Amino acid sequence: MRLADIHCHILPYVDDGAEHIEEMEALLASAVEQGIEIICATPHLRHGMFESTDEEIVRQYRRACGYIEEKGLPIRLFLSREYFCDDSFLRRLNEKRLIPMGWGNTVLAEFSGRYSAEKIEGFLKKILDAGWTPLIAHVERYGSLDEDIIRGFVEMGAKVQINAGSVLGREGHWQKKLCWSLLRHDLVSVVASDAHDPNYRPNELALCANKIGHKLGQDRAKKVLWDGPVKILSLDKGE
Ligand SMILES: [Fe+2]
Repeated sequence: MRLADIHCHILPYVDDGAEHIEEMEALLASAVEQGIEIICATPHLRHGMFESTDEEIVRQYRRACGYIEEKGLPIRLFLSREYFCDDSFLRRLNEKRLIPMGWGNTVLAEFSGRYSAEKIEGFLKKILDAGWTPLIAHVERYGSLDEDIIRGFVEMGAKVQINAGSVLGREGHWQKKLCWSLLRHDLVSVVASDAHDPNYRPNELALCANKIGHKLGQDRAKKVLWDGPVKILSLDKGE
């Protein structure tokens, strides 16, 4: 099965993802080994915590592209960010300073685990009103949300991403259960690795793809691991 991974932290020195070049190389090697063809690097942007500038992440992105080319790795690399939703994000949204995922108009939006469902909905509406499509990062992680609320967000126009690790049960029973239910009810657009490093938060996308294919069929697996990501990057519109 073809695989695309559009939420991961492979770029070094920019957030709590890859700590140095060697970790980035190991994460890329793991992606190649698993047959991942497309990666969208999504370094965090969170006021007071992860504040690498766009210039810094572009510099690391170019370096990573150089490495991929030099080694002839069969990977196409894109760059976006994982935006933490707060006032500083809203300013950036108003100033039109967001990096979309691929050629489309989607942004990966992350929330505090302490936000209420109403607060999350407020951010999603603001993102939609500004003409963007929000892709909710690891939707299974927010305690204030349940499947009905998430369905409401999807009906509003938001898209849902879940982590491969959560699907595999690495984050506990509750998150695993919610992920499988969302997958079964076709509420997920993207399963991604959210990989941070090769050892503690590794990329387990291929293993997850096998599990989803086995349990829910190859079509559903392809939908969330290839078709959905490719659509979000707008690679399906030719080019
Ligand atoms: Fe992330």
